[in-house]
Order: sequence, then C-alpha cells, then structure tokens
Amino acid sequence: MGCAGEGGGEGGVRGGAGDGWLFMEEEGLPVQDSVRIRDERPADVRAITELTAAAFKTLAISDHTEQFIVCALRAAGALAVSLVAEVDGRVVGHIAFSPVTISDGSGGWDGLGPVSVVPEYQRRGIGSALIREGLKRLKALGAQGCCLVGHREYYPRFGFKNVTGLSHAGVPAEVFFALSFGGRMPQGAVEFHAGFKAKG
Ligand SMILES: CC(C)(COP(=O)(O)OP(=O)(O)OC[C@H]1O[C@@H](n2cnc3c(N)ncnc32)[C@H](O)[C@@H]1OP(=O)(O)O)[C@@H](O)C(=O)NCCC(=O)NCCS
Repeated sequence: MGCAGEGGGEGGVRGGAGDGWLFMEEEGLPVQDSVRIRDERPADVRAITELTAAAFKTLAISDHTEQFIVCALRAAGALAVSLVAEVDGRVVGHIAFSPVTISDGSGGWDGLGPVSVVPEYQRRGIGSALIREGLKRLKALGAQGCCLVGHREYYPRFGFKNVTGLSHAGVPAEVFFALSFGGRMPQGAVEFHAGFKAKG
C-alpha cells in the first residue's frame, strides 16, 4: 500500500486536535532550533512518508517498512495521535500512536511508533519533544497507557519501563516498554494494530 501522494486518504487521524500550532518552550528541553509540534495535516503525508523512510534507512534492526506502517494506520483510521515536528517550515519529524489490544482485556492502551526524525536533525531534542507531546495528547484523549518496542536506552527517560508479565510475541523483554497513565499495569500479551504488518 503506497501513500506517497498527498491527501491523507479516507482514514485520517482520529484524535487530531485541529490546526493549532504548539511551540515547544519546555524548560530544559535541548531544542536548539525553533521547533513546532503540531497535528499532521493532509499536505504533510508525502513529507512524513519520506522522512520516516530516511530515518530508518540505516537502522540495522529495521526492516524498512515503517513508512508503510504509518500509511496503513492512516488508511485504517487508526492514528489516535499523529504529530509532526516542523523547523523553518520543513517537516523533519513525525510520531504515530495507534490502539493496541491486550490479552487480559485492558482497554484504552495505545502503541507508540513509528517515531522518526530526519538524520540531519537527530539528537537535538526533536524526538523527545514529539514523544512528550504525544503522550500528553494521549492522556488528554483519555488513554490508559502506552507501550512500544524500542531502543533500550532511550525510552526510560519518558517513564517507560520493562514490565514483568506484559509482553509482545517475538519481542525481547528488554526492548518492550510500557507506561501506565493511571497506575494500573495490564498483564498479558500485547498486539499492535494490523497496520504494523504492512510491507509496501
Ligand atoms: C530515535 C529518534 C526518534 C530520536 O529522536 P532524536 O530527535 O534524535 O532524539 P533526541 O534528540 O530527543 O534524544 C537523543 C537521544 O536519542 C537516543 N537515540 C537516538 N538514536 C538512537 C539509537 N539509534 N539507539 C539508541 N538511542 C538513540 C540517544 O539516547 C540520544 O541521547 P544522547 O543525545 O544522550 O546520545 C531518532 O534518532 C530517529 O529517528 N532514529 C531513527 C529511527 C528510530 O530509531 N526510531 C525509533 C525506533 S524505536
């Protein structure tokens, strides 16, 4: 399934909070440029697809399908939150959140990812800004928590933890993370949205 064209398809973003700009001015955030975090818009689709492919291009653990996953989630109307980071009018980062299912029946949980920053803008705090704002949006939408598969060293700084008894089939425990917003941690097997199986 390709989505390099603009327009966003039929699905779109479920939790989009509209057109408002959000200026990242959080204290202590090492953002050196003027970064704007905002909801994705239909005109951003091509840039999101390209930057996602570029961000994961050289990552050895990637199977380079992340841009297809974002497109599939959008087409399915499964983007609970989808934010872009813009610097000087250029979309340089993106984050997606979509609902997961958990075998114990816990509802209201979302998966974080893919999250991408174009290589030349990495390590300037943009990924962190996207993650923090995305988690804030999820909470505001009433989500119970968030989980992800990701870099071991990166996600604990946002409060994510490896949780005994909460897992994803085929994923090593040390790279599977969860963050509960209400304190209650589910137990069981997590499944991401079917869009994560998209291959093209
Ligand atoms: C991961 C990513 C979204 C982080 O965004 P960012 O804007 O570069 O990150 P920030 O500036 O907010 O934070 C920097 C931290 O990211 C972490 N980080 C970035 N890339 C990493 C990687 N490949 N492995 C482990 N940690 C990484 C580092 O801990 C770094 O901390 P440091 O500056 O102390 O070294 C971005 O680097 C990216 O797009 N990478 C390629 C795609 C990817 O790996 N996506 C996430 C899959 S889990």
